Amino acid sequence: MAILKIARMGHPVLKRRADEVEDPTSPEIASLIKDMEDTLTDVGGVGLAAPQVHVPLRVVIFHVPKARMEAEDGEAPAIGVPLTYLINPVIEPLTEDVEEGIEACLSVPGLAGSVPRFRQIRYRGITPAGEPIDRTAKGFHARVVQHECDHLDGVLYPMRMTDLSKLSFVEELKRFAGEAAED
Ligand code: NI
Repeated sequence: MAILKIARMGHPVLKRRADEVEDPTSPEIASLIKDMEDTLTDVGGVGLAAPQVHVPLRVVIFHVPKARMEAEDGEAPAIGVPLTYLINPVIEPLTEDVEEGIEACLSVPGLAGSVPRFRQIRYRGITPAGEPIDRTAKGFHARVVQHECDHLDGVLYPMRMTDLSKLSFVEELKRFAGEAAED
């Protein structure tokens, strides 16, 4: 088990475009995702991208708790999205609809901000077993995937914000408003 150090905003590894993974099934990638999973479990976030642990490769991991899934036709969803490993991901917006939502990031500790994201997306990628993933997502699920994949292109959520007055310390948000989304 290895808990990796997380790069913070300002580190060059978070500013560059991460490289494609040539062999998703390689032992190096298996080892990387295991360490990323250990790290994510340790810090308690919902997602992590390889550049955040100083590895400039196109790998993200994430999960979506059941409580954050959107209700379908008024019925609460039965399950969340289990921990997903996504290599060389590609995102395609399925709508022009954009919605604001609160995000936080392990590389921007202590802060949270309101970020516009596409409401509905399709995302594809490869698993560490070499199998294709092809899913549609909406709401928080779509938001998490867009946030994590942005890390692969050197983009942090504050760079997506259109109103920096909505950037706050999480402690103050909690003191004065509702809860911040955790990432
Ligand atoms: Ni992040």
